[in-house]
Amino acid sequence: MKIAVLPGDGIGPEIVAEATRVLHALGESFALEEAPVGGAGFEASGHPLPEATLALAKAADAVLFGAVGDWKYDTLARELRPEQAILGLRKHLQLFANFRPAILYPELAAASSLKPEVVSGLDILIIRELNGDIYFGQPRGRRESPDGLFPGAREGFDTMRYSEPEIVRIAHVAFQAAAKRGRKLCSVDKSNVLETSQLWREVVTEVSRDYADVELSHMYVDNAAMQLVRAPKAFDVIVTGNMFGDILSDQAAMLTGSIGMLPSASLDAHNKGLYEPSHGSAPDIAGKGIANPLATILSAAMMLRFTLGKPEQAERIEHAVKKVLTRGLRTADIWTEGTQRVGTREMGDAVVAA
Ligand code: NAI
Ligand code: MG
Repeated sequence: MKIAVLPGDGIGPEIVAEATRVLHALGESFALEEAPVGGAGFEASGHPLPEATLALAKAADAVLFGAVGDWKYDTLARELRPEQAILGLRKHLQLFANFRPAILYPELAAASSLKPEVVSGLDILIIRELNGDIYFGQPRGRRESPDGLFPGAREGFDTMRYSEPEIVRIAHVAFQAAAKRGRKLCSVDKSNVLETSQLWREVVTEVSRDYADVELSHMYVDNAAMQLVRAPKAFDVIVTGNMFGDILSDQAAMLTGSIGMLPSASLDAHNKGLYEPSHGSAPDIAGKGIANPLATILSAAMMLRFTLGKPEQAERIEHAVKKVLTRGLRTADIWTEGTQRVGTREMGDAVVAA
């Protein structure tokens, strides 16, 4: 099995190195091939998603991705910024279904910003559509305002768009995921205001007829943001569009103590996928050896389960992570009084040993 390894920028190389060590420790014969992406791609060949990197990702069975982005590229044209690499990969590989589980490990209850009784036992899954919505919708641009309140003023505009087939395919993925879990699906939109959302709600409701055993509810995104901090355990699976999912999944991440704990999978229609931590390149701590590698290690576990057909190896990794947390090892982002602070490499070592 061929795995494309794209470490990227910032803490990307540090955390991906630990995840690949964990993969090697499983004793399987994976062919790991590395390529530059993001700022690293730009430095190597003048483009954040070099052609050779994209070709490698397309040819591989799965992609293990670190993170991209750095403030030092902020002045580049938008199409040359590191973040374009991940958008490009999602688009070219048609990775439309983003799975972001938010699980609170009992050992980390003290690291959550919410009261233990609100979050203990939290295990929810956010499924975010990844190929459509306002991030890709045309037209978009900058211009002199042709009308409205301030004609002639500088104006920026984006277009929120979803077509029926785009909603149908993500809805099926979400219902199938919910059917395997607590059989509750909450679809999040803003249908009281947006046409896109009205179609979203209509289509998700139509698809629900194929899944009589899954209980479907709908929620406006502003209320969902509230409920996620008020009673997050009331959710099981949440399905939502690209932008709402971006925001809600970061919010859900913090319920679990740290974004450094949260893996993600982005899948195409054939379960081929890209696996990455939910966080970014954390330029503020890059190069210091203190980043939490667990989100990336757990992403590798998701890769084994979803794409590589090795669920038992995925479980070995997840058990190892639990064991290390039970032993009291913590990187700085999840450290609390009475636990042992370790760096990125030591955390990786401990998971490998476990
Ligand atoms: P971020 O997720 O990189 O960092 C947010 C905060 O969380 C920072 O304080 C950081 O130190 C901390 N953090 C993140 N991951 C951590 C880890 N593994 N261990 C310990 N602490 C961790 O988000 P931010 O600061 O908004 O963005 C930084 C850069 O990353 C930007 O250039 C952004 O565009 C990019 N980014 C890239 C993503 C990707 O590659 N898929 C996703 C999100 C942001
Ligand atoms: Mg985000």
